[in-house]
Amino acid sequence: MNKLTAAITAVGAYVPKFVMTNQMLEKMVDTNDEWITARTGIKERRVLKKEEGEGTSFLAIKAANELLRKGNIDPKEIDLVLVATATPDSLVSSTAAFVASEIGANNAFAYDLLAACSSFLFGMSTASSYIESGRYKKILLIGADKMSSIINYKDRTTCIIFGDGAGAVLFEPNEEGLGLQDEYLRADGTGRKFLGMEGGGSIMPATHESVDADKHYIFQEGKSVFKFAVSNMADVAEKIMERNHLKNTDVSWLVPHQANKRIIDATASRMGLDASKVLMNIQRYGNTTSATLPLLLADYENKLKKGDNLVFAAFGGGFTWGSIYLKWAY
Ligand code: UT7
Repeated sequence: MNKLTAAITAVGAYVPKFVMTNQMLEKMVDTNDEWITARTGIKERRVLKKEEGEGTSFLAIKAANELLRKGNIDPKEIDLVLVATATPDSLVSSTAAFVASEIGANNAFAYDLLAACSSFLFGMSTASSYIESGRYKKILLIGADKMSSIINYKDRTTCIIFGDGAGAVLFEPNEEGLGLQDEYLRADGTGRKFLGMEGGGSIMPATHESVDADKHYIFQEGKSVFKFAVSNMADVAEKIMERNHLKNTDVSWLVPHQANKRIIDATASRMGLDASKVLMNIQRYGNTTSATLPLLLADYENKLKKGDNLVFAAFGGGFTWGSIYLKWAY
């Protein structure tokens, strides 16, 4: 028998209905469409309103159900449900367990995976390892975030960037050598002072004072994060190309985390790729944290061809970052 590889065999996605445009943000904070467009590439993002649904699980369930419907997959065959997220429904109880029950994946075990904007990328590694070992056959990996739940809409340094959304992929064994080929994943804990959320964890549980001081919102020192992101994302993408003897002409698509168009452009440029090979939807969704990569796959699914060489790259809070080389399987 050939060596088992782990391939993506189905994709689904969901974004909430409410569209928050740059013009709307102009009325909320001291900013403007020109600045946001030039500095980030973002024109609008989605926000989950209470009337539509509550919590990250709402988005995750929608994305997963779309995948099951499109792929005609019986949820009872799923072995594991992983939810990659920075905004779980609540602390302690697993969001993934709730999602698994709601979609009818009653034979699966389930857990959440937290690595900020790299959660989905690292989840790809986890899912693939289980498949390659032969231990499980169908793993549903969902990247979902309701970033609006931790955004201060009075803080112009964060509220312009983030949005809500979810995407899901199914990993299955492949005997043709398609799927995940290589990964280079990194972390550096000194980065947590530049991007994170001070309140709500074990260091600073919620108090009246912490709430009054806006400690339960995400903060970021944009300029510092930008510098780390721009060099590290390009470094790991270049490394994965070198290690796998991929020339720029061998790469079919760059699938980059959607945090800032300038970071994406810099990564593509270092890889020697022109814009036609770069998956991008930041203009419509902003930075959806764990959902950016699967949302790209869903948006571009019709363009991807069996055997295409995809290079994923992401950078996020922690810091966490990395790159994955994957051959598309359908
Ligand atoms: O996904 C997780 C990882 N996160 C990232 O990768 C994000 C990385 N960082 C960034 O994308 C960028 O740093 C930002 C988009 C957040 C900010 O862009 P920047 O080019 O780094 O701007 P800056 O913070 O250096 O600010 C430049 C100027 C400042 O004014 P002065 O001091 O030059 O007069 C800011 O006060 O722009 C001002 N500014 C704004 N102006 C209008 C900052 N935010 C805004 C705003 N609208 N929203």
